[in-house]
Amino acid sequence: MLRVAVIGMGNIGNTHAPVYQQDPLAELVAVCDIIKERADKAAARYGVPAFYSVDEMLRAVELDAVSVTTAGTENGGDHYEPTMQCLDAGINVLGEKPISNDIVKARQMVAKAEEKGLYYGINLNHRFVPPAAKAKQWVTEGKLGDLLLINMTMWIGNPNETSPWFHIRALHPHSLDIMRYFCGDVKRVHAFFNRAPGRITYSNVQVNLEFENGVVGHLTGSYDTNPRHNLERCEVMGTEGRFVLDNLYEELTLYPRRSDELTVIRNSIMGGLSGFGATFTNRIHRWLEQIHAEVDPSEIEASGKEGLAVQEIIEAAIRSHESGQAEAPGN
Ligand SMILES: NC(=O)c1ccc[n+]([C@@H]2O[C@H](COP(=O)([O-])OP(=O)(O)OC[C@H]3O[C@@H](n4cnc5c(N)ncnc54)[C@H](O)[C@@H]3O)[C@@H](O)[C@H]2O)c1
Repeated sequence: MLRVAVIGMGNIGNTHAPVYQQDPLAELVAVCDIIKERADKAAARYGVPAFYSVDEMLRAVELDAVSVTTAGTENGGDHYEPTMQCLDAGINVLGEKPISNDIVKARQMVAKAEEKGLYYGINLNHRFVPPAAKAKQWVTEGKLGDLLLINMTMWIGNPNETSPWFHIRALHPHSLDIMRYFCGDVKRVHAFFNRAPGRITYSNVQVNLEFENGVVGHLTGSYDTNPRHNLERCEVMGTEGRFVLDNLYEELTLYPRRSDELTVIRNSIMGGLSGFGATFTNRIHRWLEQIHAEVDPSEIEASGKEGLAVQEIIEAAIRSHESGQAEAPGN
């Protein structure tokens, strides 16, 4: 059993903690928040000690891994400090997305985990659903032939106003991770943004992407819709067919190019995913499974390195808005 703690006991820390408590591979042994009432409340809820600083917790408790579920500026500004403290102390880290809103800090965290030979994962939970694995299998088996196109939509309603780039930095690690999951690394990005009336955040974005393997893709993103209607949709097309993964896990359809017969996989009423919360359960279980199996740190699914890769694409999209040109991630 892996001894784990959760750092940052807001809504999402209180989503991770019960998942650890229920997972047979983990034992939740501590919670930490700089806001005393939040730490105390969580400690009472989970029956574990509360800590009010990461240093204090690291001195007092032996840990194998932590979740860093802090937030901060653009939902990523506070991750750096506790992540570096834990990595410096030799503790494996599962961080929330975005890896950071500051690309330099994101690079430093990935470099630190590599230097220390530690496991560093990001909670890019949307890809941890059975239909995404099935669609990936179709791609790998060649059911789509050579990949050509990808279209992705991710849209929610988020009225929070923090900064111009809050929407793309905080939400689109998820959508771009799904796109990379199916199509690989991105070579060039061209983006257009607008704001809904009265908003500070560029709450809508259209991004064109060219992948290293030649696939051309498009992302539509928004903070101005109702996710109860539809949260996301991913469509991948190749020379032999295409699939549509509708609403994260609700329905997956294969449209073969040379046949009129479709393959449709629906989220089953018996044993299917019960809701969005199940993406956390699945992702955290995979994180624990991989540490438990002592895989090479480079094999961690939705790793820090992958969390950085999507943030590099986001920064390229922002640069593209400013330059009016297509931009390469990582420059
Ligand atoms: N993966 C997903 O589907 C998903 C969904 C929503 C939010 N998120 C992410 O989850 C993260 C947390 O979101 P939230 O809404 O719970 O935020 P929140 O602000 O409610 O909670 C964060 C907590 O972290 C604490 N904190 C900050 N710095 C700390 C430190 N150094 N040590 C200890 N505690 C510290 C704060 O006091 C606060 O209580 C964000 O990064 C957000 O982007 C992920």
